[in-house]
Amino acid sequence: MMSKEKFYITTPIYYPSANLHIGHAYCSVMADTVARYKRMQGYDVMFLTGTDEHGQKIEEIAKKNGVTPKEYVDKVVAGIKDLWTLMNVSYDRFIRTTDDYHVKAVQKIFRALYEKGDIYKGEYKGMYCTPCESFWTETQLVDGKCPDCGREVKAASEEAYFFRLSKYQDKILNLLEEHPEFLEPASRRNEMINNFIRPGLEDLCVSRTSFKWGVPVDFDDNHVVYVWVDALSNYITALGYGSDDTSLYEKYWPADIHLVGKEIVRFHTIIWPAMLMALDLPLPKKVLGHGWLNFNGDKMSKSKGNVVDPSILCSRYGVDAIRYFLLRDIPFGSDGNFTNEALINRINSDLANDLGNLVSRTEAMVGKYFGGVLPEDREAGDFDDDLIATAVAVRENVEKQMETLQFPNALSEIWKLISRTNKYIDETMPWALAKDEDKKARLGAVMYNLCESIRIISSLIVPFLPTTAQTIQERFVCDKALFSYDNAASWGLLPAGTEIKKGSIIFPRLDLTKELDELEKLTKKPEPEKKEIPGIAEMISIDDFGKVDLRVAEIKDCFPVKKSKKLLQITLDDGTGTPRTVASGIAPWYKPEDLIGHKVMVVANLKPAKLCGVESCGMILAADCDENDVKVVFVDGMPNGAKIR
Ligand code: MSP
Repeated sequence: MMSKEKFYITTPIYYPSANLHIGHAYCSVMADTVARYKRMQGYDVMFLTGTDEHGQKIEEIAKKNGVTPKEYVDKVVAGIKDLWTLMNVSYDRFIRTTDDYHVKAVQKIFRALYEKGDIYKGEYKGMYCTPCESFWTETQLVDGKCPDCGREVKAASEEAYFFRLSKYQDKILNLLEEHPEFLEPASRRNEMINNFIRPGLEDLCVSRTSFKWGVPVDFDDNHVVYVWVDALSNYITALGYGSDDTSLYEKYWPADIHLVGKEIVRFHTIIWPAMLMALDLPLPKKVLGHGWLNFNGDKMSKSKGNVVDPSILCSRYGVDAIRYFLLRDIPFGSDGNFTNEALINRINSDLANDLGNLVSRTEAMVGKYFGGVLPEDREAGDFDDDLIATAVAVRENVEKQMETLQFPNALSEIWKLISRTNKYIDETMPWALAKDEDKKARLGAVMYNLCESIRIISSLIVPFLPTTAQTIQERFVCDKALFSYDNAASWGLLPAGTEIKKGSIIFPRLDLTKELDELEKLTKKPEPEKKEIPGIAEMISIDDFGKVDLRVAEIKDCFPVKKSKKLLQITLDDGTGTPRTVASGIAPWYKPEDLIGHKVMVVANLKPAKLCGVESCGMILAADCDENDVKVVFVDGMPNGAKIR
């Protein structure tokens, strides 16, 4: 590349409403991989991420925590930055929507749209989903609930500003129909066209008066800017749009890729381009909607308690193992499933077995046969050509896959070379060559070829597994330029005399059963504190209660139990057709004739017990009214066998 071409990629800006989970990490790791890949190819990359800090939800959470919204977000955002540092997310800029420059620029954008007549004042009546910060019309609701998250929505009515989204209907339709490359995958494009655009775009409510935590409309104090207008603007304000210094904006806008999850494609391909059209600004080149990462087949959510904490996984297995799993297992655009078992299996097969073994075996053999130094004297032989042809072709194959962000396929191309190289060891059998002094030069060539192959592999894994790539490359004592992207399709670059140092195992093999146990323990949420109510027995769960089978039963017969002053032997019709016998300690308070014909509640699944020679199958419910008074709970009038719950 002659002069550096620019490449601008963004992730969504994350809500700091809770700790981020592995699903969020999936999005950032993908964007980071693209950014690193493009840098490696020589692009001048701008990689933007950040946090979306305004809105009613944050205001409410902060209130619950007894802190100001700013205090709340400051703390959570620090944690998010730490997570990206830990996961090697190499962003160039991190924008916070509470940053002063952003707030000012959003005010300018809002005012410009108002002055142009694309924002006007009206009254909003509709349904609002607080967790999603989204307005919905009645027709958009699904079973009366938010179509995105399925939660309750609230009726909302207030004076508000509106953005003339309807005015841009035809242009947006044209954008999606005429420029299929604008939104990928195609399935998302059809969804936008058929579900949102064709049914008609309504003007969008873009201000709120019912809470304060937002960017104030600077010409109407009661209003704060709708969070999505605030948030979407980040992609240009982060580059200085609306500030005194717009040089980054001039250089990097329009974005080459907005990488977003499937549920927010709507905002990025309808509202955002309409805003940009209204501002007369260029549109982003591409919006890519990725799928969701589920856990054990279920949507990850805090309320379900199944969110996976990426920092726990990274500290146990290393960041690259987690990055590898995320990138290797989920075809771009589809939903993926995270399970602990799939993670451990991937680590064992691809990282420990394939890559790890190749590196360890090669280092060990170069050490053993040549004192850790690549020999001058080398003799070509069988299998070399095939290995070399495979190696020099990988870069192009990876590049093809990366054009469409098919990370799993890109990695699989690199792994083909890893497998080919491992096979080369089996084919050439260096241990046999080493036994024969005449084969020394052949052995030298085999070692050299293995190292060349590892050089290429380590160059190409850089964007995906940056730490591992560095670890491997540090063991090759040579000019680090040999690991550049440019050199990754050339063979024979390592000079004779290169020292290959032996290091520790890069991915130790894991014991699946042990790891699954450990992960279970590590991710188990602490038992909630047992709430005790004075005078009330220990809490049980609904499941515990559900185990008790309570039935209506009629007393058919009753007589005192011999040798007992307290017990009555009672025969019940519990609706099953088989008479049931119960011994009940109510003789001091009831005569048999007072009971026969009445209906009572019986615990029908109590294990039988012998009481004074009577096998008692169940228990009749009675209340201790005071120390000397017990009253049976009668349920006359109910059908025999009716289940009580
Ligand atoms: N703040 C908005 C984005 C504004 S962009 C102008 C938002 N934030 S979010 O924190 O809820 O989500 C950020 C990103 O994380 C979204 O792209 C979303 O799809 C992604 N993910 C959240 N959970 C996810 C999974 N379980 N799996 C994959 N991605 C997930 O939306």
